[in-house]
Amino acid sequence: MKQTFLQWEMDSYLISTDPERLDLPRMHQFLASTYWAKDIPFDLIKRAVENSLVFGIFVRDASSENTHQIGGARVISDYSTFAYLSDVYVENEWRGKGLSKWLMRCVMAHPDLQALRRFALVTRDAHGLYEQFGFQATKQPQDWLEIKALNPYQKLE
Ligand SMILES: CC(C)(COP(=O)(O)OP(=O)(O)OC[C@H]1O[C@@H](n2cnc3c(N)ncnc32)[C@H](O)[C@@H]1OP(=O)(O)O)[C@@H](O)C(=O)NCCC(=O)NCCS
Repeated sequence: MKQTFLQWEMDSYLISTDPERLDLPRMHQFLASTYWAKDIPFDLIKRAVENSLVFGIFVRDASSENTHQIGGARVISDYSTFAYLSDVYVENEWRGKGLSKWLMRCVMAHPDLQALRRFALVTRDAHGLYEQFGFQATKQPQDWLEIKALNPYQKLE
């Protein structure tokens, strides 16, 4: 599907869906240390980004018009019936400023994610963030099936 890249601005921050802007090594460094993508290889982050709708969060550098990436999120979707939200993060030093809530507002407003039958995500402890945007624990967990790999990246070594 051909995508039109979107951009939102707030104070010195910017959210963009343009993959060309992403700092993949920096994303990889962060994500490979998370509980959900521990030790993920760089090539898998690259492939995941190439096949997702990615929202990068950027901050303008004080002394120039340059920006650098400080967070992001990734949506895997057919843009019609289903979407899965993943890899939501804000780097440590930029937390507590409302950036992830702004990110979520941008995700929820994206025009290609408006008529979905189901928008899913998995979280260990950030329920209170996503609940503010309509996500709820599934009422029928017995209806959900999955294959969950415990150490997916060990197989690749
Ligand atoms: C979770 C995370 C993205 C929040 O980013 P942030 O920009 O600091 O968050 P915000 O300032 O926008 O505020 C988040 C809101 O969600 C709430 N919240 C709920 N669970 C939370 C959690 N586990 N961590 C942070 N905030 C949480 C906060 O209380 C806050 O709500 P409020 O302002 O209405 O009180 C950030 O802490 C992070 O990157 N954590 C590590 C990666 C991670 O766990 N990502 C989520 C994976 S599902």
